[in-house]
Amino acid sequence: MSVNILAIESSCDDTSCAVISDGFLLSNVIASQKVHEAYGGVVPELASRAHQQNIIPVVHEALRQSGLSKEDLSAIAFTRGPGLMGSLLVGTSFAKGFSLALGKPLVDVNHLQGHVMAHFIQVKGEESNLPNFPFLCLLVSGGNSQIILVKSYKDMEVLGQTIDDAAGEAFDKCAKVMGLPYPGGPVIDRLAKEGNPKAFALNKPQVPGYDYSFSGLKTSFLYLLRDELKVNPNFVEERKCDLCASLQYTVVEILMAKLRKAVKDLGIKEVAVAGGVSANSALRAAFEDHGRRYGWKIHIPKFSYTTDNAAMVAIAAYFKYQDGDFCDISLPPFSRVTI
Ligand code: KG4
Repeated sequence: MSVNILAIESSCDDTSCAVISDGFLLSNVIASQKVHEAYGGVVPELASRAHQQNIIPVVHEALRQSGLSKEDLSAIAFTRGPGLMGSLLVGTSFAKGFSLALGKPLVDVNHLQGHVMAHFIQVKGEESNLPNFPFLCLLVSGGNSQIILVKSYKDMEVLGQTIDDAAGEAFDKCAKVMGLPYPGGPVIDRLAKEGNPKAFALNKPQVPGYDYSFSGLKTSFLYLLRDELKVNPNFVEERKCDLCASLQYTVVEILMAKLRKAVKDLGIKEVAVAGGVSANSALRAAFEDHGRRYGWKIHIPKFSYTTDNAAMVAIAAYFKYQDGDFCDISLPPFSRVTI
């Protein structure tokens, strides 16, 4: 009999539902929330309200596209955390109610592990390039920047992480001071293509071990703008592409330097990238370049699995299901949980 899992992701501002059958993805529906654009960042209360509006249509559509019915499902999975509490509560409560009504087991998934597990999503008829254990994963999103040693589907060790801002946060905050829309990462990526990455020298942090820091870079970017705007009020407008290219170049340099150190120290040459910032074209190019130059076996996810999505939750839940690793209906969501 097939193992069919319906998974829900609602940790931030994307409401998503996916259905997976025997490890193969059948559907992955994502409703993004445009309501935050006007505020330059995610407003938690608006996010949870939008999740409430989106969740039933999104689940309906994911089931419809999968071709399965509710009765065919083997389990219901949900993102337990980390994330925004109000957002997590919507997905968690829905998943619990659905599992109770159907009499099917419930599987909780750590959002960060989900991002790593995105590399194991398979679609029938599509070629897949699954990583072998152990491998290193650079997880870079709006809330996290971590180097993870992935020993198995469920055994993951965080080797280093940001001590302040995440890489995506640095992109978003620098975009905001340039007057660019939210989220700034994709806009910076686009504008950087027309700019000179060496135009401005920005601050690179000196942090020990495998940890990251992006707050100094953000401050040096802010001071550069402040000083140059005193001389030329049109500075940002005139040099926007160079500013974006220099910022992106510096973020990628910082990320790759620590990753190279981890690869060298651990002698593990199989390296993956995950999370929203893994959509960045310069970071993808740096991975490919490192693959060629240093013989790394690299794993870059499809664009649709980089940002928050339920397909990654479904595949993580599929492996937990096989271990009989279910959770109780009383399990609460957590805004801060580590791998
Ligand atoms: O993983 P994600 O969807 O959400 C969480 O933080 O969990 O990541 C969102 C982050 C945002 O900071 C966004 O600006 C960034 O990913 N991002 C990018 C790109 N696409 C998304 N950053 C740089 N370049 C991109 N192309």
